[in-house]
Amino acid sequence: MVSALIVYGTRLGTTASTSEEIAKTLREEGLEARVVDAKKEKVKDIAGYDLVVVGSGIVMGKWTSEPEDFLKKFQRELAGKKVALFVSCGSASPSPTVKPEAVAQARKNYLDDKAAQYGLRPVALGFFGAAYDYNNMPWWASMFMNAAKKDFITSGAKETKLGLYDSRDWDAIRAWARDLAAKARSG
Ligand SMILES: Cc1cc2nc3c(=O)[nH]c(=O)nc-3n(C[C@H](O)[C@H](O)[C@H](O)COP(=O)(O)O)c2cc1C
Repeated sequence: MVSALIVYGTRLGTTASTSEEIAKTLREEGLEARVVDAKKEKVKDIAGYDLVVVGSGIVMGKWTSEPEDFLKKFQRELAGKKVALFVSCGSASPSPTVKPEAVAQARKNYLDDKAAQYGLRPVALGFFGAAYDYNNMPWWASMFMNAAKKDFITSGAKETKLGLYDSRDWDAIRAWARDLAAKARSG
């Protein structure tokens, strides 16, 4: 069986549910998939995996440190494996006020540059939108996010439960994971 490992880092929870959805889709496609929250568990060995997916939320332009630690630790081994990177971020959410050049720049900063930093040539890069959970947001996050709330609501983020605004395109996330499964199975 083709086996996949998904390692993620999250500050506000978005990347956890995105990772679970990617894993669910990979399983539906016949792969074995294990999900690891890099903050809670340090992966010791990646030898048994055919595909390694590494994801992070973005705050203040930065990945979380734990998935980066994973990339650093396994840099050499990952260079010889099928790897995919993804991010959950506000820059990938639809917005009438953000210019396409700024979106392209964010994509480059968060994904292409990250792959280059660790000498990786990923089979796929996923640029997925943000979620903002005002019920569980730390004070430092709500300081920034209260002002932006109106903007992303008018940009089409859905209030999926009280206080949780989600702009992720789940169909796009599932389609990305299905494509990834096909890449993992080939060759
Ligand atoms: C305080 C704060 C700062 C953020 N900074 C950025 C940023 O620099 N670039 C971006 O694209 N999104 C930014 N976002 C949006 C987050 O990437 C988004 O909420 C994402 O869903 C967070 O992922 P996580 O829940 O997995 O941590 C920010 C969000 C917060 C609350």
